[in-house]
Amino acid sequence: MPVNLQGLEDNARKTAISELQACMTDGLSLSMSLKQAHWNLKGPNFIAVHELLDGVKTRLDPNIDDMAERIQQLDGTAVGTVEEVARATRLEPYPTNLTSAEDHLREVANRLRAYGERVRTAIDTVDEAGDADSADILTAASRQADKDLWFIEAHRG
Ligand SMILES: [Fe+2]
Repeated sequence: MPVNLQGLEDNARKTAISELQACMTDGLSLSMSLKQAHWNLKGPNFIAVHELLDGVKTRLDPNIDDMAERIQQLDGTAVGTVEEVARATRLEPYPTNLTSAEDHLREVANRLRAYGERVRTAIDTVDEAGDADSADILTAASRQADKDLWFIEAHRG
């Protein structure tokens, strides 16, 4: 049965589903990139950066989960398959030939910044459409992305 939330305009619901799906897609792409970096690091800063990257992923994943579950509450369909993520993400493909912590941190920072920008734009779009709850979920995700970008940049010196 549909959830059929009351007090939401149809446009608010549709806009939120599409913005949440777009943010979720970039979040899933970023999440996989964080593991790619976590696995392929080498060098004297290995353990600090290896653990930092897993921490970023551990904080990111529940935000993605909240977006997907909000789509379901709005009677949409969250699509989190690898095929859809590869088709729709706006993030650049993650390079597979990197080993230095410096290179990985730069690449992760670039993607975290792009994800943060996408989510921040979606907050306003969803809020203006009239779904404050989805805007709140996106605001929490954006706040976390900003903090983790700071962590990554602080490691870069
Ligand atoms: Fe691990």
